Amino acid sequence: MARRVTKAVFPVAGMGTRFLPATKSIPKEILTLVDRPLIQYAIDEARAAGITDFIFVTARGKYALEDYFDRVPELEATLRRAGKNDLLEILRATNMESGAIAYVRQHKAMGLGHAVWCARRLIGDEPFAVMLPDDVIAAEKPCLQQMVEAHAGTGGSMVAAMEVAPDKASAYGILDVGEDKGPLVTARGMVEKPAPGTAPSNLAVIGRYILTPQVLENLSRIKPSAGGELQLTDAIAMEIAAGRPVHGFRFHGERFDCGSKAGFLQATVAFALARPDLRDEFGAFLRTATAMRMAAQ
Ligand code: UTP
Repeated sequence: MARRVTKAVFPVAGMGTRFLPATKSIPKEILTLVDRPLIQYAIDEARAAGITDFIFVTARGKYALEDYFDRVPELEATLRRAGKNDLLEILRATNMESGAIAYVRQHKAMGLGHAVWCARRLIGDEPFAVMLPDDVIAAEKPCLQQMVEAHAGTGGSMVAAMEVAPDKASAYGILDVGEDKGPLVTARGMVEKPAPGTAPSNLAVIGRYILTPQVLENLSRIKPSAGGELQLTDAIAMEIAAGRPVHGFRFHGERFDCGSKAGFLQATVAFALARPDLRDEFGAFLRTATAMRMAAQ
């Protein structure tokens, strides 16, 4: 039986260049889907999976992200006085216990692998999750919870996986699939951003991981690879090479790549249409806007 996963690392030190100029002053993770910052979706998913220790790997200029998790007593008092209990509840649901979040700095954006390595002293000798907040997953049972449940049976390292179109494979880490057991596959290898036409499968890794502490040790030994960055994929691939178990997990749910503008817009539309308070008005707008566009063509 695998040890319970209670710590999660949130690497949020990237520069978010695809959202310039907004990301000059707003961390990407604070951009909102409807009215909730991307990071809130990730935190809620982590909490549902039983995570109690949240480790943020941040960088210069990410103050808004740290401030977001502070309590705002004046605002709470004002809402209480005004009897706005519904808003008070929304605010309270975002409150974090004091000391639940730790921040470490990545002094230079050297890649995702390096960002995770920066958290090594806070993890110790236990399995831990890594969550990339720009991958937002709409799912009945939150994705990390699905993974934690599957991991209890497999142990080792596990990555969230989904099928992608062959011409998109070079944008992802791709699994070389060994045994395919439905939602679970054993990984025979893993390659980050394979050159077009060389991907070992079309099963891509997306931003949810459960990793063993050995991966942290591997991270201290890897060299820059794809994009000149220190890649988490390479440290996980070392586990496979050492004969230790790495599984891909096909999660149930819809993943949105909110690190890209198109993915962010798709998520905005999907999440707005899922909201009872917005779906009628927004749905009507979308239908009209689409009809007008088709008429104009
Ligand atoms: P991305 O590849 O999306 O990079 O990183 P980015 O800097 O956030 O965005 P673009 O490509 O410039 O628009 C994936 C995740 O890894 C983190 C990012 O914050 C994001 O959550 N990351 C990446 C780091 O924390 N440090 C790094 O050095 C690189």
